[in-house]
Amino acid sequence: MKIHSNHSLKALNTFGIDVVANQFFTAKSRKDLIKVAKTYRASNTFVLGGGSNILLTRNISKFVVHNQIKGIEIEKEEQDHVVVKFGAGEVWHDCVLWAIKNDYGGIENLSLIPGYMGAAPIQNIGAYGVELKDVFESLDLIRLDAIKAESYDKEACKFGYRDSIFKSALKGKFCISHVYLKLTKNNHQINISYGAITSSLAEKGITQPSIKDISDVVIAIRKSKLPDPKEIGNSGSFFKNPVLSKEKFLKLREKYPDVVFYEQADDTIKIPAGWLIEKCGWKGRKVGNTGTHINQALVLVNYGGASGEEVKQMALKIQDSVQKKYDVLLEMEVNIV
Ligand code: EPU
Repeated sequence: MKIHSNHSLKALNTFGIDVVANQFFTAKSRKDLIKVAKTYRASNTFVLGGGSNILLTRNISKFVVHNQIKGIEIEKEEQDHVVVKFGAGEVWHDCVLWAIKNDYGGIENLSLIPGYMGAAPIQNIGAYGVELKDVFESLDLIRLDAIKAESYDKEACKFGYRDSIFKSALKGKFCISHVYLKLTKNNHQINISYGAITSSLAEKGITQPSIKDISDVVIAIRKSKLPDPKEIGNSGSFFKNPVLSKEKFLKLREKYPDVVFYEQADDTIKIPAGWLIEKCGWKGRKVGNTGTHINQALVLVNYGGASGEEVKQMALKIQDSVQKKYDVLLEMEVNIV
């Protein structure tokens, strides 16, 4: 095992926070993960993927395992579908581009999401009307607490809005090695429910979009709204969109009739956290080296040289002011380490 000491994590987290791992190891196979599990066990291990959903506030004293398990192969082929096996260390967007090149449908709306394949099921990534769970078949992982291999199907993953069993009961106890997605070979289920996709396609005069058209439009929308982590450090949406009971929502709307909302199938109401944050005056505001993005108040950014603690304090201030004004608690989507 080649272990690096005091390894910088600056280039390995999309916030671009400058901290080090006391011990750092690159895992390239399931065998590597088993070795790690045997030697260090779950309580002493920290698994790092694409670093796109974490805010590092200190150096990491645990043994850091960087998941670099690669590979894309067809696991099963049927008349209308393929099941594709992806290494958890593959870059998510490269997998989307691979699918589009091969005309496999289902993940085009999830174009340009930062991070690795292995993290996608953990927080059930979602954007523009599609969530990972819609195409998810199963995954393989190594338990770091019990040194054994396990597989999880869709039901076992207990997917929710930006949520799964890997964020609760199994938190910190596993490393995903492979993810299997079921993609369409023909009769692609084109999803243009999100307003900006419909209007962008109309502007281009596209009436029967291909999966490549959808991907191109999603890439353009994301580029126009969300900062590129290579230019401005960030982790996408910092908070989840809060979900309120109908009763609580009606009270809120009485006071703030212009509130933006989305009715959910279970009678609850989702409010865009970006709207709440903007209305509290935070949009585009810069405090020290951190702030919120000018085009999307839900995205906290590192304007250069910010410490993780600085970003965390900013998030707490935003959380506090939304709570005081709207009596709504914003739950963090990003993991603070
Ligand atoms: N809004 C504002 N001000 C802002 C930002 C948003 O008022 O500064 C309001 C607007 O009314 C806007 C609405 O919020 O129409 C929704 O904004 P947007 O379409 O940008 O989506 P979002 O709800 O803020 C969610 C996901 C994003 C995903 C987009 C598109 C969460 C936490 N975030 O954001 O996911 O790309 O929808 O589907 O659910 C991520 O998780 O990192 C992420 C980027």
